[in-house]
Amino acid sequence: NHGDWQLGTYLNGLVGVQPDLPMSYAELARRAERTMSQEMWSYVAGGAGDERTQDANPLAFDAWGLVPRMLRGAADRDLSVHLLGRTLPTPLMLAPVGVIGLCEEDGHGDLTTARAAAATGVPMIASTLTQDPMEDVRAELGETPGWFQLYPPNDRELLESLVHRAEAAGFSAIVVTLDTLTLGWRPRDLQIASFPQLKGLCLQNYFSDPVFRSRLPKPPEEDVQAATGHWSSIFGNQRLTWDDLAWIRGLTGLPILLKGICSADDTRRAVDAGMDGIYCSNHGGRQANGGLPALDCLPEVVDAAGDLPVVFDSGVRSGPDVVKALALGATAVAIGRPYAYGLAVGGQAGIEHVLKCLLAEIDLTMAIDGYASVAELTRDALREVRVPR
Ligand code: FNR
Repeated sequence: NHGDWQLGTYLNGLVGVQPDLPMSYAELARRAERTMSQEMWSYVAGGAGDERTQDANPLAFDAWGLVPRMLRGAADRDLSVHLLGRTLPTPLMLAPVGVIGLCEEDGHGDLTTARAAAATGVPMIASTLTQDPMEDVRAELGETPGWFQLYPPNDRELLESLVHRAEAAGFSAIVVTLDTLTLGWRPRDLQIASFPQLKGLCLQNYFSDPVFRSRLPKPPEEDVQAATGHWSSIFGNQRLTWDDLAWIRGLTGLPILLKGICSADDTRRAVDAGMDGIYCSNHGGRQANGGLPALDCLPEVVDAAGDLPVVFDSGVRSGPDVVKALALGATAVAIGRPYAYGLAVGGQAGIEHVLKCLLAEIDLTMAIDGYASVAELTRDALREVRVPR
């Protein structure tokens, strides 16, 4: 049981040994803010507009309460889930976080993240915006599944190249992110006029791409500015349509999930378009402000998805949050900022610590509330809270 190490931590305390790494999300975020450069902190912690949607994401979990059940024999918990033909040891996933490479001083945070995923068996979804080429990231994952997240560029040949590289590298699914066809209004980044990608700091995945390189008069190593300029001209793709998705569907036999889907209608369209999964998310509130908290969208997406799996993220901060999302019908639950902060404060060990704490809290919540497996977490396990805080 993942919660068993809790006791050891208390016993260590008896002899004056305290944990080196933060035990709560609030402390983790405080430590990350102290550790990271102002530029990176603004980039990772910030969101769209006045960040009310971002702030609403974690608060939305307070609208639901778990029904505690006693004496149901939940002494041995099974946290495994089934997703796209595989059994995963836990319901957690690492959401795609572009530029996470720079949460580490040497810029190779994507490789570190992949090592943490390999060590824990928690799948990593590698962003299009990795500092290291996707092939190197995939190699670090070993046996642990990795998915490739695609920001569809405005250059079909390049898009095709990215998808085929992902296939060849051994990624087992493609996540197409649909809520970032242009960049959101992010005052924190704008205030310090910083967007790390624009400095070409985290674009090695593009810079190593043969099609991307063929578009440049000089290799990126010789003219980073021109390469970055070209990247910014093809990154956004606001005219993307469902027809383009049909074309993308035809490019690969890998399962495709659509990220950013938050409504029943779009879920049905995704099903009709032959997609293999839905990724319900509002990008952690980084893209559009004034929207619904992602958790509020989850039930209708799950209902419309039928047999398709639904991955959920945005605002997950604790074990009970994960348990609630599962009870609302998510197949797996991903985190973004929590592990980015773990990386910033403690490298690979920091990410593993964040995952270990979350898993312990999930496990102990299920133990205390009497749910022995993820399958037992259904909507009957939840009630609406009458007076949310
Ligand atoms: C992201 N996210 C993201 N999503 C994506 O599809 N591709 C990407 O490259 C990125 N990049 C990115 C950078 C940073 C710094 C953050 C914080 C997030 C969104 C991410 O996958 C996920 O949807 C959110 O992070 C989930 O919300 P929480 O857990 O951060 O609240």
